[in-house]
Amino acid sequence: MRRRLTPDEINRIAADPTHCTRTDLVPVIDPTRPFVPEEWTQLWYTPVYASLHREHRLRYNQLFGIRINEYVMMLESDLIERIWPPLRRHPSVRGDPALVRALDEMIAEERRHHAGFARLNRICRPDLFPEGRDRFFSALPMWGEAMFRFTGLVAGWLAFGLWYQMALEESAQALARAMVHTPETATLGPLDPGFVSVHREHMKDEARHLHVDALLIERTIEAAPGWRRRLDAGLFRAMLIGVVRPTRAGAGEKVIRQLVRDMPELGDREEEMIRAVLALGRDRRYQESLFNRRLMPATFAVFDRTEELDHLGERMLGYDRRAP
Ligand SMILES: [Fe+2]
Ligand SMILES: [Fe+2]
Repeated sequence: MRRRLTPDEINRIAADPTHCTRTDLVPVIDPTRPFVPEEWTQLWYTPVYASLHREHRLRYNQLFGIRINEYVMMLESDLIERIWPPLRRHPSVRGDPALVRALDEMIAEERRHHAGFARLNRICRPDLFPEGRDRFFSALPMWGEAMFRFTGLVAGWLAFGLWYQMALEESAQALARAMVHTPETATLGPLDPGFVSVHREHMKDEARHLHVDALLIERTIEAAPGWRRRLDAGLFRAMLIGVVRPTRAGAGEKVIRQLVRDMPELGDREEEMIRAVLALGRDRRYQESLFNRRLMPATFAVFDRTEELDHLGERMLGYDRRAP
């Protein structure tokens, strides 16, 4: 983010269709192609991965790609829908009609993205996503439900959810950029162009959303008294445990269970794969792949200038604190 856009500039760009995400794509998907770079999947970081046959790695990659789409959808509905309405009423937001307009436009865009990713997943696996069902891997675990409900309740004055949101939005952009710039995967050949096309379009709106996030953080969290920010920082650190640590019955395990349902010959390796994924909670290389400065420079710059996030690196291992 070279320069922070003003709300008026954001609205002007949002009105230009060439800078907006097309969400009407109906891509053709080639089932012989991988969907995402392998280093964006969990098993890649485990010793098990290299011992799997190509067709098993390919199917895992495709299922994990669908799970990534669901993760983006989770951000676009569960988190945003809960955080943004109270933010819209925040005293330093509601008095700025241009910012409120940018916010409303962003919420509308996220709803369209959600529908676009749901359509993509249905094209990839109609059996897992029959009409009317958009979630398969990411039905929220209990902690997630509780966290989002709580985040929404307090976001009117404790806007810590925005830090998480900004990190995820910047990460979704980084994924799209990686797919466009390096379409060749490490061991599975070129990515599926149809799958990539949806992510490439997604990036257009998200580039603007990052500016909205930064503005809102500035107006709410950074303008709040220190005691409030200390509380925000503590909640953020607590919330991250559930984000970075794969859990039993979490989405990562569900991907493996589906892989074995698709390819029953892997049945005797199911538990080994699940244990390997669960161990990633303590794996530095994997942890650093989730949050790092290369993926999210703008978000890390926000963290750097927030004194209360001094110890964030203890929970977010990829965060290398620097002087602002
Ligand atoms: Fe989005
Ligand atoms: Fe977004």
